Amino acid sequence: MAKLWGGRFAQESSNLLDNFNASIVFDKQLWEYDIKGSKIHAKMLLSIGVLEKSEYELIIKGLESISEQIQKGQFEFKIVDEDIHMSIESALIALIGESGKKLHTARSRNDQVALDFRMYVLDYNCKIRVKILDLIDTILFLAKKNTDTIMPGMTHLQHAQPINFGFHLVAWCASLKRDYQRFFDSFERNNFLPLGVGALAGTPYKNDRDMMAKELGFKAPTLNAMDTVSERDFALDMLYDISMLLMHISRIAEELVLWSSYEFKFIALSDAYSTGSSIMPQKKNPDVPELLRGKSGRAFGNLMGLLTVMKGLPLAYNKDTQEDKEGVFDSVKTTMISLDILKEVLLTMKIYPENMLKMAKIGHLTATDLADFLVRKKNLPFREAHRITGEVVAFAEKKGVDISELDEEEIFQITSLELVGIKKVLDTRASMNARDSLGGTSTGRTEEQINILEKWINEEKNGQAKTNH
Ligand code: ARG
Repeated sequence: MAKLWGGRFAQESSNLLDNFNASIVFDKQLWEYDIKGSKIHAKMLLSIGVLEKSEYELIIKGLESISEQIQKGQFEFKIVDEDIHMSIESALIALIGESGKKLHTARSRNDQVALDFRMYVLDYNCKIRVKILDLIDTILFLAKKNTDTIMPGMTHLQHAQPINFGFHLVAWCASLKRDYQRFFDSFERNNFLPLGVGALAGTPYKNDRDMMAKELGFKAPTLNAMDTVSERDFALDMLYDISMLLMHISRIAEELVLWSSYEFKFIALSDAYSTGSSIMPQKKNPDVPELLRGKSGRAFGNLMGLLTVMKGLPLAYNKDTQEDKEGVFDSVKTTMISLDILKEVLLTMKIYPENMLKMAKIGHLTATDLADFLVRKKNLPFREAHRITGEVVAFAEKKGVDISELDEEEIFQITSLELVGIKKVLDTRASMNARDSLGGTSTGRTEEQINILEKWINEEKNGQAKTNH
């Protein structure tokens, strides 16, 4: 079949080439953006006198009918059409005839693909942001209910100091908030219209790019034609933002895996989000958090993939860039479902506060409180207080109890220091609440952090970037 670009060719392209060259199998999902872009382009051509009113109307009608066919699943995407741009253009020509052939005036597939793909990326940037906010909202809902739920805070996965569960959850939210902001920054940086720059050098027509930018919801047109058709850093921004988000999600997922094990038993995942073993009937596996943890790997791969494709490409457009889409589609799809399922897993899991508390009483978590008490009440240098506390810990170890279970008498025997009120200080909850510095774990400080995040979420929800893309 003759190609739209077939004029100079004497021979038809081989099937092998058609299959190798085509992007239609995956870029067909850009159809809506392609039609939107074509409609605005036609409007612009009308305004600069390239199209007659009647031609313009035919084109718009034709594009709308193609849009309908695609929506109804009646449109045939053909490999010979190569990509979404030529599929729609050739369908338009078949539908309306000669006027359809004028649509590609002052336009190249290079600026067309740059437009479609950028609209897709910006659109999903907004969709992902809505889901991140939703996830933070869910986590805060759990955090609010658990600001007095004592658990062991860890470093090196070893019991360190008592914290409350809500505080741990707020820590997750803090990183997710930065992820949200990273997406937002990328949106702002990339919200510029590529259309109208032609193949690489601009066009001899008076393309009204300002009008098209406005109509399509972009802040302004891009600056330089060459840069516009050859750059894919807006897609790399997306892949990086997703990688960072999924890296954070993988850490959350890892904690869910750990916490749902018999060794921790801090939570139980709902049956709806757990799986069984085909051989061991007793098993309930955390496949969902494991997959969430694993999905980050393929997202990092997609980022590395596109970075590698782009590396060393001369300006301007090169066909290598066609390799930009599948990784982005994959990462976006993965992110959308990951955010949905993580939210559900968190909402449906059961929490065991009694087990968390029990574990917070193992491992002398309040030893630092004893050292701090010695500093404050006995005016000892911290290093000295640390040494003495170490001796008390050794004593408790020998006795087979936690430091919080020792009384003043016993501590006096080891340290020869009268420490009135130390018993209360070594209490796990008191220790948690003693960490009342800004950003600390005390119930009050945790609530303060929750309030700040909630206020931020409400502001974001009210002014949330709505995209026209
Ligand atoms: N399918 C192509 C892509 O995804 C569209 C641009 C083709 N441009 C060209 N000059 N061959 O990159």
